[in-house]
Amino acid sequence: MTTFTLNGKPVDVAAEPDTPLLWVIREQLKMTGTKFGCGIAQCGACTVHVDGQPTRSCSTQLQAVAGKRITTIEGLANGNGMHPLQAAWIAEQVPQCGYCQSGQIMTAAALLAKNPKPSRKEIVAAMDGNLCRCGTYSHIIKAVQRASRAIEKQASTPSKRAEAAPATTTR
Ligand code: FES
Ligand code: FES
Repeated sequence: MTTFTLNGKPVDVAAEPDTPLLWVIREQLKMTGTKFGCGIAQCGACTVHVDGQPTRSCSTQLQAVAGKRITTIEGLANGNGMHPLQAAWIAEQVPQCGYCQSGQIMTAAALLAKNPKPSRKEIVAAMDGNLCRCGTYSHIIKAVQRASRAIEKQASTPSKRAEAAPATTTR
């Protein structure tokens, strides 16, 4: 049995220790927002956060996450509200087929948690490993910039400060 925290709740998983985390999340825990793309850590579609770090779940073994905090796209929102990135993704109409997008958002969320005001260059560098066959890259950059502005605005409003602190590193 392997125990870890998924989106703020403790879970026990009975699976072989070398089972890919992606299989556990999708097949056993039924969180299907995280996608299988390449299966070899090359595309980013399967990105989740492990203790706040963007991580390829297709190439992370279950035994490596024992006792850790996992956040998937389903757990990114803070309470009932959307994460600023999710709102920005809608406003900028980023998705085309949508398949890569949860991985894109999880990578962007980890970036903003670490660096709330990234430059364009920093955004491009952080998002570099997340591939999109539909070519939504320019929209992704605009959405990350929009979310960054929203987080800054929230942080400057006292009553909104708690919401502005991206939830990803605290779950
Ligand atoms: S499915 Fe994991 S990086 Fe492509
Ligand atoms: S939106 Fe289709 S692969 Fe990215």
